[in-house]
Amino acid sequence: METSKRVTLQDVKSNPRIKSLINGANRYLEVKGYTEHGLRHVGYVSNTTRNILEELGYDERTCELGAIAGWMHDIGNSVNRLYHGMTGATLAFDILDRMKMDPDEISLIMLAIGNHEEDYGLPVNPVSAALILADKSDAHRTRVRRGEFDPDDIHDRVNYAIKKNFVVVDKARKAIKLVLFMDHSSSLMEYFQIYMPRMVLSEQAATFLGCTYELVINDLVINSHRLPQKPSKLTLSDSEKNVSED
Ligand SMILES: [Fe+2]
Ligand SMILES: [Fe+2]
Repeated sequence: METSKRVTLQDVKSNPRIKSLINGANRYLEVKGYTEHGLRHVGYVSNTTRNILEELGYDERTCELGAIAGWMHDIGNSVNRLYHGMTGATLAFDILDRMKMDPDEISLIMLAIGNHEEDYGLPVNPVSAALILADKSDAHRTRVRRGEFDPDDIHDRVNYAIKKNFVVVDKARKAIKLVLFMDHSSSLMEYFQIYMPRMVLSEQAATFLGCTYELVINDLVINSHRLPQKPSKLTLSDSEKNVSED
């Protein structure tokens, strides 16, 4: 049996096939009027996936596989947006196999890519969970394509409104936080109108990694993902009592 190679993120970044698929996918999505999905997006997702895994103490190889999955996660868009997670996973098999990656590692990456979309994906391994959290956190005004901001397009409005976005892993509290700062180009209501399924999947991904998920927009904690503490005895103040007056 052929010996496998320890494929690195650098090998993947310099692979001309992968670069062509990322650029092709980005050009196709531009035609469709979608936000930026090129080297900037996959670079952000790759770095963020690695950082999440590193912060949670995963071994070096798992972190590297996370970075590789992040770089390749959207190559399925070079075929079609629909089911691009599954198409991308299939494309990744052939490319990584040619690069002689270990088949078990290929399998892990395929599962991460094939499960990163909120329509049908689920966190199925640590790399997959970190990839979901990284991908769904990338909403920012730089993703609105230059000169093409359409005020009638809700995706453009929401993305344009986000001035700052970052993911924080709070190891002590076992919490993963997505912090956003939005201006008035859009609203929280519009954010949730388009991104609610992504936030629900992000909560599931954080749970998979043994963490809670916090969404903080303009310094306001939006969700309460922690399990509520059951009070030992229910006590109500006079004002909280539901007293009906006849
Ligand atoms: Fe995607
Ligand atoms: Fe993506």
